[in-house]
Amino acid sequence: MDNLPDFISREDLHQEPIERAQTIPSSWYTQPGMSELEMKAIFSNEWQLAGHISEIPEPGDSLCRNVAGNPILIVTDNDGHTRAWFNVCKHRGGPIAVKKGTKSVLQCQYHGWTYLMDGSLRGVPQWDRVDLFDKKDFGLTPVQCQIWQGLIFINISDEPRPLSSVIEGIDKRISPINLEEFRFHSKVSYSIACNWKVYIDNYLEGYHIPIVHPELAKMLDYGNYVTEVEEFYSLQYSPFSDSGSDNIYKTEDGEAFYYFIYPNMMLNILPGRLQTNVVIPVDQNQCIVEFYYYYKDPVSDKMQPIIKEDIAYSEKIQQEDIEICEAVQRGLKSRAYDKGRFSVERELGVYHFQSLIKRSLMNL
Ligand code: FES
Ligand SMILES: [Fe+2]
Repeated sequence: MDNLPDFISREDLHQEPIERAQTIPSSWYTQPGMSELEMKAIFSNEWQLAGHISEIPEPGDSLCRNVAGNPILIVTDNDGHTRAWFNVCKHRGGPIAVKKGTKSVLQCQYHGWTYLMDGSLRGVPQWDRVDLFDKKDFGLTPVQCQIWQGLIFINISDEPRPLSSVIEGIDKRISPINLEEFRFHSKVSYSIACNWKVYIDNYLEGYHIPIVHPELAKMLDYGNYVTEVEEFYSLQYSPFSDSGSDNIYKTEDGEAFYYFIYPNMMLNILPGRLQTNVVIPVDQNQCIVEFYYYYKDPVSDKMQPIIKEDIAYSEKIQQEDIEICEAVQRGLKSRAYDKGRFSVERELGVYHFQSLIKRSLMNL
């Protein structure tokens, strides 16, 4: 806690029950330097969603992702296992890719050093006369990688808390749905002019739905909309309203689960569909939100119009959310605003998220 900058006061880190709590101060959303602090306090320690095994089904398939500011390479090896390393060559820092025409060799894209699937250095072209060089000292640096229900999580810390302790209980709650059964369909990225926490705060409450998304409000049974919180995640849950006129999921049985997993991941689970969102800070005023769409059946003719409608609908909701989030960022920057309060009935998820942010900063 002694490592905190001046704009974070001890008083603001204090935790109060929701009935009395204030929201985190606007400076946490607007101060230059906050992003670096959060990278250290939060993103360098927490698990990050990096994809789904259906994106890399065959040996040699790979994903390049940026996780907590680090380039990461994720590969399916010849035994079908998922492996991950920092995507940084030990020669002069170049990026690695699976070598064309092979399934088992990784090759640097700069000067062509090659590595085996266990990360060890194999081939070093034009290396005669180099002294005191042992290949064993130049293997790729592995990164913590775990799979849960087909989702790939990365943690750049050497000793992270177990992923199972973060997501504990989700399996049981969504059963018989198993996210491993879904297949990747597509990805959409949005660049948004707001702090990453503004986007997450907004995701975490249904309070704004009647005003910002009037059409969605008609579809959801807003009166029965509930938020449940666990240590590291929260769940918003809403039964579909029978009266919804244009609900594309109406013919299927089931419920909608909207999970937020600290610090920046969302799993939106509907019958036959999984949409994941990852919110990536760029700087205090900007974030990137990535939407990944997965379906149980992404290819059949029957599903094509349904998928098209699903993505178009999400796009519409997303545009409404982007507009309000960017306006909120302008509001937070104004000298008129510092701290607000929470609706006990409707903003438990936001309170929970902000309490975790405070906890991470206190551990610095
Ligand atoms: S940086 Fe990788 S081979 Fe040179
Ligand atoms: Fe929204």
